[in-house]
Amino acid sequence: MQPTAPRPSIVASILPADFSRLGEECAALEAAGVDRVHWDVMDGSFVPNLTVGPDVIACVRQRVRLGFEAHLMVERPEPMLGRWAAAGCETAIVHAEACAHLHRTLATIRELGMRAGVALNPATPLDAVAHVLDLVDLLLVMTVDPGFGGQAYLASMEPKITAARALLDASGREIALEVDGGIGRGTIGPAARAGADTFCVGSALFRERGAMAAEVSALRRLAAAGEVSGAAA
Ligand code: DX5
Ligand code: ZN
Repeated sequence: MQPTAPRPSIVASILPADFSRLGEECAALEAAGVDRVHWDVMDGSFVPNLTVGPDVIACVRQRVRLGFEAHLMVERPEPMLGRWAAAGCETAIVHAEACAHLHRTLATIRELGMRAGVALNPATPLDAVAHVLDLVDLLLVMTVDPGFGGQAYLASMEPKITAARALLDASGREIALEVDGGIGRGTIGPAARAGADTFCVGSALFRERGAMAAEVSALRRLAAAGEVSGAAA
């Protein structure tokens, strides 16, 4: 019997949401069938934009059952790691570029009871994580430069996604491979074919609010088939 391919995970970026109604927006994402919510946390320094902090996430936590992951686009995330755990994030994703002692930072995330994720900017080579994989539960390959939603997917990242898949498979550990930035109907198939199994989607999900559930199903189907749809990303 053929082994069954794992079901692709669709993770919703909160960035295009109406920030005055975050509870309702997360409830809508839950009803649409996404696997979890991806909180894009920005500090105005690592990236030129500012979003939400742990107090906001903690308030929304009470409104939905969906899992939360925090994508920490912040310099020196270490002092605040406990705050994301306390806010109800199951996963904390730090940027390799922002951590002087990445090994220690990942160990701390685990000690706090969260899954440890590490993100790589487009310009950062995969080597940055090669020696810490024993502490990694999720690798996030950025397919745009972080900071803003609605940017165009960088197809030039596909060889890196493929190399990441090989590295994770060789580790013998179960590590999710997520892509983030410009994912939509036109790009999810190629990203899946390159080796990603988890897809962070922002603009494409919120484009037509009445059709969110249909969009989640279409994206899941395209990812599973590794197909490209004619529609724009
Ligand atoms: C970019 C963020 C992403 C992004 C996703 O800095 O990390 O999560 O906004 O949004 P789209 O799908 O619009 O690129
Ligand atoms: Zn993100």
